[in-house]
Amino acid sequence: MEVHPITGVFGAEITGIDLKSGLAAATADALRAALAHHLVIVLRDQHIDVAAHQALTRVFGTPAINPYAPGPDAHPEMTTILKEADERTGVFGGGWHTDLSFLDQPPGGSVLAAIDIPPYGGDTMFLSQQAAWDSLPEPMKSLLDGRNAAHVGKPYGIKWAPPVEEQAMKGSTKRGDPDADRERLHPAVMTHPVTGRKGLYINPTYTLRLDGMSEADSAPILNQLFAHCTLPEHCLRLRWSSGMVVVWDNYSTQHYAINDYHGFRREMRRSTFDNDGIAAWRG
Ligand SMILES: [Fe+2]
Repeated sequence: MEVHPITGVFGAEITGIDLKSGLAAATADALRAALAHHLVIVLRDQHIDVAAHQALTRVFGTPAINPYAPGPDAHPEMTTILKEADERTGVFGGGWHTDLSFLDQPPGGSVLAAIDIPPYGGDTMFLSQQAAWDSLPEPMKSLLDGRNAAHVGKPYGIKWAPPVEEQAMKGSTKRGDPDADRERLHPAVMTHPVTGRKGLYINPTYTLRLDGMSEADSAPILNQLFAHCTLPEHCLRLRWSSGMVVVWDNYSTQHYAINDYHGFRREMRRSTFDNDGIAAWRG
């Protein structure tokens, strides 16, 4: 197995592995280490079926069901992310976010496999929350370190729900859940339990305010932070190819699904895993 960094900041392409032929314990260890250090790992030309997808997921943690977008009964931890060629709505995951950060236990990461991809477009962007933390000025670090931020599930609740015509995957996602409007507090800065690196844990989709401050007083600070996180130096952009598989660390990154492939069908299969839970990241 070889690890090839994608940028000078994060992300790595893994070669020399065939996920269809089973995973030896040493390979699983190497994949976990690669994810811990590179945060997003890419494996090309894998064409994994559901069983191989489940096996890869278990390398990183316990498979978890997305309560707002469960998969089919046979394998509910596998969400199909689908946009048909004639759909003109927004796209699932269009907007910078970490998945489900408004839950008490947000998922630790995901495994996303390309099933049917457009000839061009439909890229996924990631940013490193560790890089964003590292490059913050010291006064901002002091303001954030040790402080909680409040998260709410805006797209899935009532109070902030987007107009129905803008909702992606309407038929297969749960909406209008009053519990999604409830604030959940998580540290604004978290520490990776393996590498000890600190990273921001805020995102513009779900983070409502900083603890100890109102929404209005938080807004200019959070908006400045969100702009800082998305600087090109903190980002990478993945172009999908047939059979590609990507694994990401959901606590140390944000991602963004680019909605630029109208007229083409795009289908992905995504599993989610829990690791040791957010308590291990409090540093
Ligand atoms: Fe997402």
